[in-house]
This record gives sequence, C-alpha cells and structure tokens, in this order.
Amino acid sequence: MKFFVDTAEIDAIAELNDLGMVDGVTTNPSLILKSGRDILEVTKEICDLVDGPVSAEVVALTADEMIAEGRKLAAIADNIAVKVPLTWDGLKTCKVLSGEGQMVNVTLCFSANQALLAAKAGATFISPFIGRLDDINIDGMELIADIRTIYDNYGFDTQILAASIRTVNHVTESARIGADVITAPPGVIKALASHPLTDKGLDAFMADWAKTGQKII
Ligand code: E4P
Repeated sequence: MKFFVDTAEIDAIAELNDLGMVDGVTTNPSLILKSGRDILEVTKEICDLVDGPVSAEVVALTADEMIAEGRKLAAIADNIAVKVPLTWDGLKTCKVLSGEGQMVNVTLCFSANQALLAAKAGATFISPFIGRLDDINIDGMELIADIRTIYDNYGFDTQILAASIRTVNHVTESARIGADVITAPPGVIKALASHPLTDKGLDAFMADWAKTGQKII
C-alpha cells in the first residue's frame, strides 16, 4: 500500500520523505490556506522534493475553467496529479485531462456510484473521504470496501486513494480491505509507530540497563 501525506507543510513532508514513508502528497484549498503559502510556489517545492504524484486541486466550478486551471497546475511538474471535485463538470475535466495523459485525482467522493463514474471518466485516483462519512455516522470503511469490490468486478485500474483519514485504525482497515493508497496527515502517519506496550517495554529495558552500569559507546 502506498502512503501519501496529506499536507502542504514542506518540513513535515521532508521529514517523512527522508524516512522513505512518502509515496506521494495530496493538497487541497484548505491545506494551502493552512500553509500560508502561494499555491504555485509551494506545489513546485513539493514536486521537487517528492518523486511520486503530488495532487494539486482546481478551484473553478465549470469544466472549461477547471480544464484551464488543471493544465496550468500540470505544467508545474511531471508528477502533478490534477485534483478535481466529483461533480459533473469535474468528471468532464477528468475525461479531458486523463485523455491528454495527465494523472487525475477525483476528490470529494462519498458514494460507490460516484467512484464508478470517476473510473469510467479515466481517473488515476479516486478519493473516498472516510472521516467525513464517519462524522455523519456513515461507516466510511464500508465505502472503501464497496469500491474495492466494484473496481475488481470490472477490472477498473483507477487506484483507490483512501482519504480523510483521521485515525491509525483507518489506515489498518484500508490496508485490510486493499485500498491502493492512503493519504493521511503527518501526525497520523507518525502515530502508526506508537504502541503503549512499546513505550512500557522500552522503559523497563532502560531501567534494567541503567542497573548494569554498562555502556555500549
Ligand atoms: C484528501 O485528498 C483530502 O485532502 C483530505 O484527506 C481531507 O481530509 P479531511 O476530511 O480531514 O479534511
């Protein structure tokens, strides 16, 4: 399973990238706002840092304008995935840009039918939002499972990019179901390393080691 990091914070991306934990990056207008950076500049920096796909989102609402924005974003670097919303105009944009050989990430997906349409429009990635479904008491993981089944039934090669991941359990369940990619905030990716028994065990080893009076170096 590939790990994308869901942020526009360069330092956080660089830290995880140095550890080999970053297969790609996703951004969105809210994450650009949070970074306080210019979208074109920060996206270029991310693309220079990371080898894998970097999703940059259009903000227009009509297909013609989305296509123009998508082409401008795509010109930033070869590893741009143009991110479009799952609207009818977004699907038109997906069809046009993917037809030009451009990677396209169709975002804001909340149903299996939407995911089916994105695959038929040639999406490289479909981004079902798990956390935002959980927020309204709908099981986001069920959506990931449904899309996996449907894509496998028909051999669609659109990659399932499990998004809006809020917990480490979302990552485990996405992996169990067979999502191709997860995108998660840096804090969630780092939290995957944590376990209270690891901390407890390490404390005990350190206490015993101190009693030996020895040093390795
Ligand atoms: C995905 O591409 C989105 O940027 C992101 O996962 C949304 O997450 P949120 O629902 O926590 O804002």
